[in-house]
Amino acid sequence: MTTIANENIVRIFDTTLRDGEQSPGATLSSAEKLEIARQLSRLGVDIIEAGFPAASPDDLAAVQRIAREVGTADGPTICGLARAVEGDILACWEGVKDAAKPRIHTFLGTSDIHLKYQTGLTQEQALDVIRKAVTLARSLCDDVEFSPMDAGRTDMEFLIKVCALAIECGATTLNIPDTVGYVTPQEWYDTISTLIAETPGGGPGSGIIWSVHCHNDLGLATANTLAGVAAGARQVEVTINGIGERAGNTSLEEVAMAIRTRSQFYDVDTNINAREIMKTSRMVSNYTGLSVQVNKAIVGKNAFAHEAGIHQDGVLKHHSTFEIMRPEDVGLAHSDLVLGKHSGRHALRSRLLELGYEVSDEALQEVFKRFKDLADAKKTVTDADLEALVTDQVQGPHEFFKLIDIQVTSGTMGMPTATVKLENAEGQRIIHAAVGTGPVDASFRAVDSVVNVPATLVEYSVHSVTEGIDAVGEVTVRISTKGENRSYGGYGADDDIIVASVRAYLAALNRMIAITGAGGHTPEGAVSTVNV
Ligand code: KIV
Ligand code: ZN
Repeated sequence: MTTIANENIVRIFDTTLRDGEQSPGATLSSAEKLEIARQLSRLGVDIIEAGFPAASPDDLAAVQRIAREVGTADGPTICGLARAVEGDILACWEGVKDAAKPRIHTFLGTSDIHLKYQTGLTQEQALDVIRKAVTLARSLCDDVEFSPMDAGRTDMEFLIKVCALAIECGATTLNIPDTVGYVTPQEWYDTISTLIAETPGGGPGSGIIWSVHCHNDLGLATANTLAGVAAGARQVEVTINGIGERAGNTSLEEVAMAIRTRSQFYDVDTNINAREIMKTSRMVSNYTGLSVQVNKAIVGKNAFAHEAGIHQDGVLKHHSTFEIMRPEDVGLAHSDLVLGKHSGRHALRSRLLELGYEVSDEALQEVFKRFKDLADAKKTVTDADLEALVTDQVQGPHEFFKLIDIQVTSGTMGMPTATVKLENAEGQRIIHAAVGTGPVDASFRAVDSVVNVPATLVEYSVHSVTEGIDAVGEVTVRISTKGENRSYGGYGADDDIIVASVRAYLAALNRMIAITGAGGHTPEGAVSTVNV
């Protein structure tokens, strides 16, 4: 049985790749999941829930890869999710068994509502299912987590019975989910305290880890999670940027920074390396296409911006007047003017390293070229500009088509027209022109003719990275295919917003091709193909 190494450490269980990926619109390829898992490991999470292996062969393969490549002896525990049925548990073990520290997480709905309408089980039958599932999981793996789904609406007496049984059958972590985001902080504090105090085999000193898993339907996920910690939970289940089903899960960065900032109040700590927070947030947002609201705590664009004169004045006198955390604590760029047009490749690499970006020589080459262009166009290149460029350049693992050149004309006279030159995976350069209702529409149509996948644009947003007319523009797009409820996100940054738009659109198309394996071949003869 696992023993608590340090009662004051709250384990961070990240479920971005499982519950987070269940967000409407978030679809990740297995290569992207692997990159996110690597970043989560750098962030210092203790457990990564890498997926739901029984869901599909692709999900199983993604979990296996993460288990092998990220689940090293000094890395995080790698966990998979399984319904409380034999097939799921066996698939889950196949997924995680190669990790140095594997975990099986199995669950069953225990509220009257779930029993009556979802599984049709009586309480007695549910106990039987749990007994078999946890016993099987424990026969395969020493580290087993059980979740009574919809615990927030489960009768307390029955909940205690369920948890006691799971412990008796070998569960080492008891995760208590508020699946529908229904509870309030005080109620949750009482629930977790009661469970710890009254569950046979689960009290202090038993070695059982109590965990909380909250959803944000009433905007209470972080408050409820922290109430659980105050009551004695020593694992929290969270996602980056709070993504997840419906209104999302508890946000990792909010809980980690609340525990750190109010350490005296909570008297606990985490293993999170907070300086990796911004980078992880950007990566998840770019790969899922789910942008972060500007006023989101910790990682929103405005989280550290001071607008009111009195606030600005105070912060200039001393940051503690209106700041409870420093932006650099969470890995936000902190110096304004960094490099100029005379700066060399070496200076750029060092600055990127200081910002936490380790880029390959090939990527550096590209970022350097774009940095020089930007430095020519703009007098000052800020850390935020650099971060936008590098995030755009290091888009993730897929590049079936890349933008070489684009030329656009628009205005009140004539039809907006765009000509694009793209390079495909075989190194062929293809030029195509199209007209549209505006310059973005014309550019996307030109790209469509070359890429040839059936994509519909469902979301398009643009905003500037810094202030001023010469600011770099960031564009986020989301596309989908007809009849599918999955969507694919893309991000682009450039001082020309049409270029940024096309880069974002191509990133989303590349992601769609990688995940669905569909299309991506320029129709023969449909476009003028020129090797230039
Ligand atoms: O919200 C929930 O109940 C879950 C369980 C599978 C833990 O995600
Ligand atoms: Zn959940």
